[in-house]
Amino acid sequence: MKTIVLKIKTGYANREKIRKASKIILRGGLVAFPTETVYGLGANALSAMAVKKIFRAKKRPLDDPLIVHIAEIRQAYALAKKVPLEARLLMQEFWPGPLTIVLQKSWRVPKATTGSLKTVAIRMPKNRVALELIRDSGVPIAAPSANLFGRPSPTSARHVLDDLGGKIDAVIDSGKTNIGVESTVLDLSGKKPVLLRPGKVSKEEIEGTIGKISVHKLALGKKRKTGKTASPGMGYRHYAPDSEVILVAGKYSAARKKAIALAQKISEGKKTALLLHKKPRAKEVQQGHGKIRVVAVGGPEKAAKKIYSVFRRLEKSGFEAIIVQGFPEKGMGFALMNRLQRAAERVVKT
Ligand code: TXA
Ligand code: MG
Repeated sequence: MKTIVLKIKTGYANREKIRKASKIILRGGLVAFPTETVYGLGANALSAMAVKKIFRAKKRPLDDPLIVHIAEIRQAYALAKKVPLEARLLMQEFWPGPLTIVLQKSWRVPKATTGSLKTVAIRMPKNRVALELIRDSGVPIAAPSANLFGRPSPTSARHVLDDLGGKIDAVIDSGKTNIGVESTVLDLSGKKPVLLRPGKVSKEEIEGTIGKISVHKLALGKKRKTGKTASPGMGYRHYAPDSEVILVAGKYSAARKKAIALAQKISEGKKTALLLHKKPRAKEVQQGHGKIRVVAVGGPEKAAKKIYSVFRRLEKSGFEAIIVQGFPEKGMGFALMNRLQRAAERVVKT
């Protein structure tokens, strides 16, 4: 299969190209498209046949449920059995935007979409191209991140093609995504709200709208492989490049020092990259042994935006080890640490 690339300038819609893409969706094909977080791999969420192709292309386990993307709040009412007050308040406050809400599903949503769960994850993305595509196709669009299963999420069309080129019908290329890590996932299907995956919309912001919520232990990054979980996808190693990622957690200075020391040691035997918040002074990183590639990634927001593309780039250049200075676990830092813990082979504490 040849993957068509539909180029649309960032922030603009292009009726002709959107039409082309929505036609593919409507005949049961796969179209990757940008959202404000990462690129998604879209299919008609109401067609089991179409959705199954997503799992095949990504090599994703069938029990890992998909997020259903909508363009109007009323579409949520067709997908969910009921929409509780908390959900209505959050939709009003944060949609369109990077917040996914899990609700009990209605009969309309096929099992294939939800990994056989009785719940459905719904989100309205804040991206013009994504919204136009959903509107024009007239159906909700199921879309996981458009990467091969377990790999870093794509933040550009290039990343999508590197993983899925030749396996999907089309990709809409609309430049780099804004936020860089996936949406916050909040479960409102039970008695109490539970944060399943941290993201740009923070716990504190959610609590500002609906009051206290709890955080699932998997979202804290403590445990990786478990049996049955609230969110099956969270049980797997994720977001990881082929290079070995080592995360150094702790207070700023201590983590930085330890990351530098660790990189120096590892670089004696492996091609090593070191990701620090700020550029080091020459004296700090002595490159006596192996050469170390240092990347300054900035604070949490900036780092989130580029972490996956940095991972992909370093992997392509053959770096065997990537040492990462951790972030304070607040706001975007919490989301970023969650992804880094999952990508890391090892977490070193200071
Ligand atoms: O920002 C995002 O959310 C991106 C863009 C494309 O929208 N999508 C994304 O999808 O990250 P994916 O499939 O890579 O991650 C979806 C997460 C998984 O951890 C999955 O287990 C969870 O959401 N999820 C989906 N449906 C669920 C459900 N019914 N109950 C609990 N968790 C669910
Ligand atoms: Mg994903």
